[in-house]
Amino acid sequence: MKMVFLGPPGAGKGTLAALASGRMGLPHISTGDLFRAAIKDGSELGKKVKGILDEGSLVPDALTIALVEERLSQNDAQRGWILDGFPRTTGQAEALAGISDPEWVINFDVEDSVILKRLTGRRICSGCGKIYHIESMPPSVEGVCDACGAGLYTRPDDSQESIRTRLSAYRSQTAPLVEWYGGKGKLLTIDGTGAPERVYERFMEAIKA
Ligand code: AP5
Ligand code: MG
Repeated sequence: MKMVFLGPPGAGKGTLAALASGRMGLPHISTGDLFRAAIKDGSELGKKVKGILDEGSLVPDALTIALVEERLSQNDAQRGWILDGFPRTTGQAEALAGISDPEWVINFDVEDSVILKRLTGRRICSGCGKIYHIESMPPSVEGVCDACGAGLYTRPDDSQESIRTRLSAYRSQTAPLVEWYGGKGKLLTIDGTGAPERVYERFMEAIKA
């Protein structure tokens, strides 16, 4: 199965994609994670995109599409995938249709006040990338990943200023995809609030229906 997870920053795309990927045996491909890995490696791509990610703007389409095209050509992506955070512009959606069209686009609906609470309390594992929240999904030992024992960090783009820029980029450049995919009959909008298990249940009900 080929699926896109769409939704504003903090909607829970990464959290749900990690759950669904493990249970459905599909690779979880997050463009945000790929860019952050490039920054951590200090690669040419990483140097180009670091400032853009930190401020919360979108990376240019050409760079993003090339990255996804390369990732989707790998062996593990031939039988299906969960794309988290791509496409984010109509140009990217058109490019994806030319590479490999998704069967479903899952749109996570979450209101702004919930998004703000989620993003300001988020912590990420510096080792394995597992996502935590200081209130709703805290680790057993503060600041330490339950899964691999590495330290947790706050994403640089989870500052108030970058969150504002990311929400505005979402509204102007990504939200039009809701209508775009809706018009193609591929869109499934689900309520993204409540515990992750509850969101997962709604997601499974939606794709089975
Ligand atoms: P990306 O990494 O994709 O960031 P984003 O879209 O802003 O989304 P987030 O990762 O912040 O949120 P999420 O929906 O994954 O929420 P999460 O599960 O973590 O992109 C980062 C940057 O990379 C972009 O700004 C851009 O610069 C660049 N980029 C990436 N893709 C691009 C593209 N296609 N084109 C151009 N540029 C691109 O959850 C958030 C928090 O809430 C966590 O703390 C979690 O524990 C908690 N939480 C999640 N679900 C629940 C729940 N059900 N109940 C309670 N808490 C929950
Ligand atoms: Mg994410």
